Amino acid sequence: MRPLSYLSPATAVKESAIHGRGLFAISAITAGEIVAIKGGRIISREVLKELQPLLGPAEIQIDDNLFISPVTLEEREGSMIFSNHSCDPNIGLRGEITFVAMRDVAAGEELTHDWAMTDDDDSSTECRCAAANCRGVITGKDWQRPELQARYGNFFSAYLLEKMQRMKPEQ
Ligand SMILES: C[S@@+](CC[C@H](N)C(=O)[O-])C[C@H]1O[C@@H](n2cnc3c(N)ncnc32)[C@H](O)[C@@H]1O
Ligand SMILES: [Zn+2]
Repeated sequence: MRPLSYLSPATAVKESAIHGRGLFAISAITAGEIVAIKGGRIISREVLKELQPLLGPAEIQIDDNLFISPVTLEEREGSMIFSNHSCDPNIGLRGEITFVAMRDVAAGEELTHDWAMTDDDDSSTECRCAAANCRGVITGKDWQRPELQARYGNFFSAYLLEKMQRMKPEQ
C-alpha cells in the first residue's frame, strides 16, 4: 500500500529518546523546507473517539472537530509522520497538514513540533521532551499562551491562527 503521508527524503524514522519512534533529519534541512505532509482520512471527533482504541494516537487536528487520521490498522503505518512533541521544536505548520523546518536543522537532529501548534482540546499530558524549557505538562489549550504565540509566529495550524485573529481586541 502506498503511504498516505509524505516524509521528505532528508528524514528517517528511528527510535527516539522522547517516545517510541521519532522522525529524524538524516541530512541537513534548510529553514522553510517541507519535512512531512500528513495524509489520511478526514474524520470528526466522534469518529476519532470510536477509532482510538484500535489505532492509538495517529491523528492531527485540522479544525475544531475535524482530524486527519488513518481509519484502519492497515493504513496506520503509512499515515504516521512520527513527529514527537517538544517544548523546543524545530518544525512547525504551514497550513494544516504541512510541516516545515522553522530553522536550519543538522543531520541527526530529531524533528519535533509543539502540540500547541495543532491542538485545541481539554487534554493534558506529562511531557517527556527533556528540553531545557520543557513546560512539564502540555495542555490542549497551550496555543492560547502568549509566549508561545510570540515564539512560533505563523507556525501554528491555519485554523488556530484564525482563532487568534478573532480573539485579538478590536483596534
Ligand atoms: C503520533 S505519536 C508520535 C510517534 C510515536 N513516538 C510512536 O512511536 O508512534 C504521539 C504519541 O507519542 C507520545 N509522545 C510524543 N511526544 C511526547 C512527549 N514530548 N512527551 C510524552 N509523550 C510523547 C505520546 O504517547 C503521544 O500520544
Ligand atoms: Zn516538554
